[in-house]
Amino acid sequence: MNYKQDFPILNNKDIVYLDSGATTQKPQYVLEKVDEFYEKYNANPHRGAYSLSMEATEVYENVRDKIAKFINAEHREEIIFSKNATESLNLVAYSYGLENVKENDEIVISIMEHHSNLVPWQKVAKNTGAKLKYMYLDGNFEISDDEIESKITENTKIVGITHVSNVLGTINNVKKIIDIAHKKGAIVIVDASQSIPHKRIDVQDLNCDFLVFSGHKMLAPLGIGVLYGKKELLNKMTPFLMGGDMIEYVYEQETSFATLPNKFEAGTQNVGGVVGLGAAIDYIEKIGYENIEKQEKEVVTYAIQELKKLKYLDLYLTSNLENHSGVISFNIKGVHPHDIASILDSQNVCVRSGNHCAQPLMRYLGIDSTCRASFYFYNTKEDVDALVNALNKAYNMFEKYINKGN
Ligand code: ALA
Repeated sequence: MNYKQDFPILNNKDIVYLDSGATTQKPQYVLEKVDEFYEKYNANPHRGAYSLSMEATEVYENVRDKIAKFINAEHREEIIFSKNATESLNLVAYSYGLENVKENDEIVISIMEHHSNLVPWQKVAKNTGAKLKYMYLDGNFEISDDEIESKITENTKIVGITHVSNVLGTINNVKKIIDIAHKKGAIVIVDASQSIPHKRIDVQDLNCDFLVFSGHKMLAPLGIGVLYGKKELLNKMTPFLMGGDMIEYVYEQETSFATLPNKFEAGTQNVGGVVGLGAAIDYIEKIGYENIEKQEKEVVTYAIQELKKLKYLDLYLTSNLENHSGVISFNIKGVHPHDIASILDSQNVCVRSGNHCAQPLMRYLGIDSTCRASFYFYNTKEDVDALVNALNKAYNMFEKYINKGN
């Protein structure tokens, strides 16, 4: 099946897009729904007593219901709109972490976290005197059960874990992590940014306390994100951002705050983005996660098979392909990934190069950076062939320098 016809940019431009881990392309359906909002419903939700504002409110709040159903949240007010996963993580770090972590408590995260699920916890640890501990990887780029069991202890108060690594594609055993953390009395934040585009998430089944994701990695516009949090936790937390619409009464010196979810949605929201996210969910449901997973498995399995044939490549991925998603990081020994990415670009192949906002992971792996091809269901085996051809060209250009040891 080829889904490219639904994505205008993939038809308008002669590109092989392999950077969906950074942001996905947007289907025509999402673009049309965003336009429709601005053409027919645009007004500021929750602000006006006139019909258009009430219509905008309905459009906005309907998407909250849709998301609650999509991730199987128990209550609609457990869905908070944010700018992106980063903002959602900062909200939890500031409004839960700073208030609930004490000196000598432990915060446990993994070494494969994106900076957005790492730097906020450094701040919480520094401000509270808590200890920030890491779960490291085994030789197969996975976090072993032993590592999980030894790092999460009675002193652990917060565990932050990415569901899928944006560098390695490793799918972490978040259920096990959540189970162990709860037994020790800790709460768990799951970063689902790299998983929810590819697989169904059920927050009640996972039993996570918080879960975050970005709309733009799952076909929605840039600038819209989600925080899911258990109602009893969100209710106890203080607001993150202060301003309009998150208040109940404001006096000269004191303010009482709105109830959930408004308490965490200060200021005018990205309503167009919310509408786009709702449309992206409709589109994903229409294609079906089963078909998304089937298409990706076929293309990514082919990609791994073909890339493994390139003896000059170092690949950074688990050998257990059941635990691997649609991200493949690689290097050509002796060549900087930015140079490889530039040559691939000259062949119209778009990959990301660099440290992928995961410097501690790079240091742990003993490298500075990688090239990363990240796939989505609109990619095809022909895209893989284009990547392999472009890599062969890059290797041929650099071979003489590599072999001289330069
Ligand atoms: N976090 C995004 C990535 O991994 C930007 O590319």
